[in-house]
Amino acid sequence: MIQLKSREDAVWLGSRSLCGIIGFTGNGDALGIVLRGLKRLEYRGYDSAGVALLAGERIWVAKRAGSVDELIRTVGELNAPRTGVGIGHTRWATHGGVSDRNAHPHLSCHGEVAVVHNGIIENYEALRSELESRGHTFTSDTDTEVIAHLLEEELSKHGSDPKEALTRVVTTLKGSFAFIAIGSALGSRILAARHGPPLVVGYRRDACIPSSDVLSFLELTDDAIFLENESCVVIGPGNVEAWLVSGERLELKPVKVAIEVADIEKRGYVHHTLKEIHDQRATLLRSLTAELGPIDEIAKAIRSAKKVFLVAAGTSYHACLIAKYVFAEIAGIDTTPVLASEYSLHSRWVDNSSVVLAVSQSGETADVLDAVRDAKSRGASIIGIVNMPGSSLERFSDLHLNVSAGPEIGVAATKSFTSQVATLLRVALRLSGSPIPFDPQRVAEAVEEVLELEQSIAEIARELRDFKDLYVIGRGIHYPLALEGALKVKELAYVHAEGLAAGELKHGTLALIEKGTPVVVLNPHDETYHDTLSNCMEVKARGARVIGISDEHHRSYDYFIRLPRMGSKYATVLLEALPLQLLAYYLALERGAEIDRPKNLAKSVTVK
Ligand code: G6P
Repeated sequence: MIQLKSREDAVWLGSRSLCGIIGFTGNGDALGIVLRGLKRLEYRGYDSAGVALLAGERIWVAKRAGSVDELIRTVGELNAPRTGVGIGHTRWATHGGVSDRNAHPHLSCHGEVAVVHNGIIENYEALRSELESRGHTFTSDTDTEVIAHLLEEELSKHGSDPKEALTRVVTTLKGSFAFIAIGSALGSRILAARHGPPLVVGYRRDACIPSSDVLSFLELTDDAIFLENESCVVIGPGNVEAWLVSGERLELKPVKVAIEVADIEKRGYVHHTLKEIHDQRATLLRSLTAELGPIDEIAKAIRSAKKVFLVAAGTSYHACLIAKYVFAEIAGIDTTPVLASEYSLHSRWVDNSSVVLAVSQSGETADVLDAVRDAKSRGASIIGIVNMPGSSLERFSDLHLNVSAGPEIGVAATKSFTSQVATLLRVALRLSGSPIPFDPQRVAEAVEEVLELEQSIAEIARELRDFKDLYVIGRGIHYPLALEGALKVKELAYVHAEGLAAGELKHGTLALIEKGTPVVVLNPHDETYHDTLSNCMEVKARGARVIGISDEHHRSYDYFIRLPRMGSKYATVLLEALPLQLLAYYLALERGAEIDRPKNLAKSVTVK
């Protein structure tokens, strides 16, 4: 734990970070509000945390490696000042070790400015050399620290005009950043800037809360000002002024955020992840039936496009892989799923006759945003399929749909995945002009039936807990579900897991199957059934322990998780992720893994 009252004793290693940032200025207890906000932001990063408070002429800082809870405990033992101005940070390190010294906030030479930052300052080495040649002493290798020094320098020159000081600093920085700063000469004014990563201001007449996202201030206000990219901002209690570095003043309008505080609570569940798995009773029904915004315009754009790309990362990419089958089978439309981080290969085919469907729970994933920016510059139409209202992707898209899963806090995506699949299915159905081929209400009941299997899935997990490797196989539309099931096991239970197209087993992986190797076989009774069953027999013959997930039992399954009979392949697909999510959850529980915040991961990956 580092508690700094002055800059001199600060020496820490370099870091670049994803992170969550928050500030508070106004009528209230800044420390309590910032710490509660950091708890809500922890899904963005959770390896270190810190706060800075303005105490008269001084800035008080407390920061440490570890979770926000650990920070809260530590701060509780200190004599923190009571004040209405503060900032906070929760970190996900990408460069540099996890240590007290690497934690934000970072201070300027004389401790007059404190900064929290999300993103990367690309030219920080050059800036640091220049600052050093002008007499600044650096006690860390962090990129963030240059912001504190630059602000201190500019504020000393333009103290009466912090807008000018901030504009000059932002003009100097290159990279992707959102930062929030307080200063001893700034009083209740907070400076902030957005150049890439998200920044939104919670608005009240007597206070403002700049933050990485709305979840961190919902308890205080549901009025939010989403800041445009490239905004510079001065924030006071109840007032926000924003402008571009060109000097152009930006119009700001608070919007109401339609998220209930109850939606972000655990509501009696041990983990957010488990609650979110259970939420699917309601969220799937909502995603299948809610008013879908500009779906007709979207269908028209897709129909008239020469090429349709589905761009996403992680679990959202798996939803896109499923959508490829759905669009082809239901609407006769060919689509190209693209991993956002591999988009550059595909960019040469993107032009003004293309549609890019970008799918993202957070709407903030850097690789996805980079891809859509490039695609837009080539003239493509951008259609965002998002879950977080007001996200960067939503705002950047020409048209967007919300998948209506509600806030998802657990780092591993669960309910957002099934809602993405449901939403993409509805788009495909609109393209073909057909109604939903099943009763959405029946799907909600079937979710309940699958959730009733929870204890037997927990027992399977108990028996599998010590295995080092696990395989999940599926064919056709079930193949992306195999990928998703394996991803859940990896990220939640920290067990090596591989998802495979069932037919590919014999081209290599079969060599790894030995007595007792767990293989999950996704095999609902559709056109893939018999071929997948043959693959199941192949692993069985090599001694595999088979976990069959199907609506039809087979004697080759050592464990059987029964899916309800739905009479529609697409309804079954919506249910299929649930037993995989529960299996991964209970494996994680058995193995003592950190479930809501798996190690080394973050929910919203805002750097490349
Ligand atoms: C992170 C999360 C995953 C998520 C992926 C894409 O890796 O841990 O759960 O699937 O980002 O996120 P997005 O918000 O774009 O769907």
